[in-house]
Amino acid sequence: MIQIKTLDSLPLPARVFYRVDYNVPLDGTTITDATRIEETLPTLRLLREKGCPVVIASHLGRPKGEVKPKYSLAPVRAKLAELLGADVQWAGDCIGSEAQAKAAALKGGEVLLLENLRFHSGEEKNDAAFAQELRKLADVYLNDAFGACHRAHASIDALPRLFPPNQIAGGLLLAREIEFLQKVTNVSERPFVALFGGAKIAGKIEPLEALVKLADTVLIGGGMANTFLAAKGKKMGKSLGAEVMLPVDLVVADSLDHPTIVEKISESDVPDTLMALDIGPETIERYAAKIAGAKMVFWNGPMGVFEKEEFAKGTMAMAKAVAEAKATTVVGGGESVEAVKSSGYADRISHISTGGGASLEFIAGETLPGVEVLKTGN
Ligand code: 3PG
Ligand code: MG
Repeated sequence: MIQIKTLDSLPLPARVFYRVDYNVPLDGTTITDATRIEETLPTLRLLREKGCPVVIASHLGRPKGEVKPKYSLAPVRAKLAELLGADVQWAGDCIGSEAQAKAAALKGGEVLLLENLRFHSGEEKNDAAFAQELRKLADVYLNDAFGACHRAHASIDALPRLFPPNQIAGGLLLAREIEFLQKVTNVSERPFVALFGGAKIAGKIEPLEALVKLADTVLIGGGMANTFLAAKGKKMGKSLGAEVMLPVDLVVADSLDHPTIVEKISESDVPDTLMALDIGPETIERYAAKIAGAKMVFWNGPMGVFEKEEFAKGTMAMAKAVAEAKATTVVGGGESVEAVKSSGYADRISHISTGGGASLEFIAGETLPGVEVLKTGN
């Protein structure tokens, strides 16, 4: 069992450096999904109730150590102020004299948002001098940035090491993420059905291998299913333990933007001129039946190109099946979360992870630097 230091162990009130993952999807300056901001509100409210001045830090996108206006956290500031119902102060640079003066002047319950950590190359380099600069802003360190915990970056790894061990902790969100993802890795209930999809297989082999060992049944969909169908992956389940199911029918088309052919084919061989863009009705039925019988479900990755209505049926049917299962249900990964939200079933899922890559690395049994540093006993 992984045990991290929690909020209740911190000497509060105190000036808090609050690392969050506000790496939200943007359309220009419009936030298209504010989940990652919403999920930090319980911790923020608690800190404010306790009279803590709060300095909030996050990354956004991958500006690669340069100031790039399109990756500014300014739109997040406005959204956070709206959701929190409070003024959110702003520092145009996450380190330096302005940030230090504004952090020092914060009164209990006041909130300051720092500009993008990744505007400095020191963040991704886990640079000690950059961490020292951040250290000047607060007296205790709190991490709710689960989505970035797999990154050994300065605000995640080097920085908490600069605080006394009793002045660092994980927030309410981080604690919840770890609690639910551990239910998955510890297989707290069976049958355990894993639903695994997504367009690409890159980065998903290790988590898939882990799931094949942990789960009773692994259902595969999305673009990655094609890789397995092509490789006749049907055999691999027997050697590894779990029952691995692949699509028995697919929705195919000749083009994504102008689909002139949308039809169901029952064999796994997709002709050269066509692409498989969703799982078919027979597959939906079989997968939904498996999910209905599960006591625990982990889902990562859509079943098809769900952004397009023609190819969304499989993913939406899985969202419904997961929501209706009398099971502990955990959904991880940006796209699956988006799919679950657009399906309208989000509030019937036990836990929706704010981490994409991080949740997969956790499932794969890898060590997350951001979690490691916060373990009790450190
Ligand atoms: C994410 O969105 O997956 C996290 O915020 C981490 O971002 P990164 O993949 O750019 O490190
Ligand atoms: Mg990512």
